[in-house]
Amino acid sequence: MTADLAEPAARPAGLSADPILALEHVTVRFGGLVANDDVSLTLGERRSLALMGPNGAGKTTLFNVVAGSVRPTSGRVVFAGQDITTAPASERSRLGIARTFQITQPFSTLTVRENVMVALTAAGASMKDAHARARDYVDFVGLGLKLDDPSSTLSTGQRKRLELARALATRPRLLMLDEVTGGVDRPSIPGIIDTIHRLRDERGITLIVVEHHMDFLRALADEALFLHRGQVVVGGPIETVAAHPTVRNIYLGDADD
Ligand SMILES: Nc1ncnc2c1ncn2[C@@H]1O[C@H](COP(=O)(O)OP(=O)(O)O)[C@@H](O)[C@H]1O
Ligand SMILES: [Mg+2]
Repeated sequence: MTADLAEPAARPAGLSADPILALEHVTVRFGGLVANDDVSLTLGERRSLALMGPNGAGKTTLFNVVAGSVRPTSGRVVFAGQDITTAPASERSRLGIARTFQITQPFSTLTVRENVMVALTAAGASMKDAHARARDYVDFVGLGLKLDDPSSTLSTGQRKRLELARALATRPRLLMLDEVTGGVDRPSIPGIIDTIHRLRDERGITLIVVEHHMDFLRALADEALFLHRGQVVVGGPIETVAAHPTVRNIYLGDADD
């Protein structure tokens, strides 16, 4: 563990009773399609929330609403007490919101280190500083042996780890992980889950995860929100949500996906 990553969070951890994130009646329409329909949620600092629901339920759209690449048609997004509904994505990144993408998007001609340097310099680091610090993030996600390899040589699982490193380089308070184990070979998954646990335990990061496998969700999240056709079906402790009849129906239907 490096000094950089071990640095305590810049706030008194766990003392705030206020939620770090609140969505208030968020609706997103794409033409006639309602991708998010009156979604409300609050999430406390250091909590992990699973966003659940079948394909097309509106999970990625909700990530985009929080990260700022999609503007809600109506409703409010509040982060750390600040209304960010109309804030640009760059401002949200500065405030501490980061996300990974369902489809990874590394700069394939750059090395692993250089990919992380792009995130660091975008967050204000000098090239020299970014060069030194990139290694810490690459090591943290377990890609140290690939540090100077082109990212085009990475496996799917390794690309997911690189995504994580790039997101971490912005020093997020809230990290949203979109299908971080999707397409990853099974033996690599426990390592990714372990890395995510360390994020929360060592760095105090609040998490929102989209993940299809119920086992991994249980390992990652304490709370869940189940969406169907853009609407919230049920929210609460993950075991309560998992036991809900609609959730059981849909998840038993594709239990082996
Ligand atoms: N940019 C977009 N333009 C039009 N329709 C979109 C756009 N993004 C998502 N959708 C639609 O919104 C719905 C929710 O999609 P999405 O949020 O990606 O669901 P999920 O991540 O739960 O699978 C889907 O019907 C999808 O086709
Ligand atoms: Mg999605």
